[in-house]
Amino acid sequence: MGTSEQRRIVVAVTGGIAAYKIPELVRGLGRAGHRVRCALTPEAAHFVSPLVLQTLSGEPVRSQLLDPGEEGSIGHIDLADWAELVVVAPATANVLARMCHGIADDLVTTLLLATRAPVLVAPAMNVNMWNHPATRDNVAALRERGVRMVGPETGELACGWEGEGRMAEPAAILEAAERCLRAPSLRGRGVLVTAGGTVEPIDSVRSLTNRSSGKMGFAVAAEAALRGASVTLVAGPSHLPTPAGVRRIDVETALEMRDAVLRELPDASVVVKAAAVADFRPRVVHERKLKKEDLAPDQGLTLELVRNPDILEEISRDRGDRVVVGFAAETHDVVEAARRKLARKGCDLLVANDVSRGDAGFDVDENAVTFVWPGGEVEELPLLSKAQVAGQLWDRIEKRLLGGRE
Ligand SMILES: Cc1cc2nc3c(=O)[nH]c(=O)nc-3n(C[C@H](O)[C@H](O)[C@H](O)COP(=O)(O)O)c2cc1C
Repeated sequence: MGTSEQRRIVVAVTGGIAAYKIPELVRGLGRAGHRVRCALTPEAAHFVSPLVLQTLSGEPVRSQLLDPGEEGSIGHIDLADWAELVVVAPATANVLARMCHGIADDLVTTLLLATRAPVLVAPAMNVNMWNHPATRDNVAALRERGVRMVGPETGELACGWEGEGRMAEPAAILEAAERCLRAPSLRGRGVLVTAGGTVEPIDSVRSLTNRSSGKMGFAVAAEAALRGASVTLVAGPSHLPTPAGVRRIDVETALEMRDAVLRELPDASVVVKAAAVADFRPRVVHERKLKKEDLAPDQGLTLELVRNPDILEEISRDRGDRVVVGFAAETHDVVEAARRKLARKGCDLLVANDVSRGDAGFDVDENAVTFVWPGGEVEELPLLSKAQVAGQLWDRIEKRLLGGRE
């Protein structure tokens, strides 16, 4: 038995190969002290044994919508009302499409339509199914409605392809489920997050930018919203979907980001600056495209760059009671560089990441970060998903920086 409070969780299993991992999830939820009931699509029963799920959960497993014997005792509405959380794992492309369109043609989709409990889905499918515009649209619509997502991860897929589509590991789903069930600890707080890289124009078609995808900052914003904060996300150009419950302001340049941050600052009691803001911008922005024909064949082109304002330093300086957290992307001597940056900027916490690693940092789903505190304390975290890093970050902000502050 785990230490968390007992909650009622429905695990809805659909017909994907990753269903073989669901007994581990059910066991983990049970060990954490929760009551679990499993509902399967008819397809799911081909991929995982209902008997195993029944034995591990200690509860009857249901898969038929129209089963006179079962319907009398625990109808699909009873199951929907019983749940404090519904976890759909693995979630097939098919179930995401049916959820998106409100189709209720089996037990799982009917209970998903009927439940008022939060829903967490762990998608798992072939990379091309995941990247298909139909799935992208369905996922975006579900997120917009407040459905929470965990994964999918990138890696080797059961179908033989490599890419995004692997179900999050049971431990990560368990952690995400616990997060969904947690009381909204940031309710009433204004949170301002910046994310992504800025784009500094050279002329009407060219620009200077960096490889930041915005994934880390979006995860930080999503986690704050899950914890009940009123979140504003100031984002450099990014195709990432806006996390549920987050107000997003899109900007391009560092100067636009600074304007938006300063405008939104009065409503924020916590600011997390995860954006990779360009340090420099071209002094002159040419209105028309620069033509190579205008230069002699052996003549180079020299761009003169000027410093951009340091937004983190600026807001740290006059922060008053406001908590300010910065990110540092470094390629060598990561901790030393982060310590110097923390001292220079004067923020409350600096999250350093080594972007020279191939498996962490820019434009990937995982990050290996180090928390650097003003007193000199350093906490190195293992390689985690960006959602998990965001969870660890907010745990620390809540415990160590907000404790006692209104
Ligand atoms: C061996 C096999 C593996 C499959 N794996 C997946 C998968 O991982 N993800 C997925 O979306 N569909 C997968 N499918 C296709 C689904 O099973 C199919 O779309 C089915 O209709 C899903 O039904 P459900 O969503 O009602 O459970 C697989 C099919 C087979 C035969």
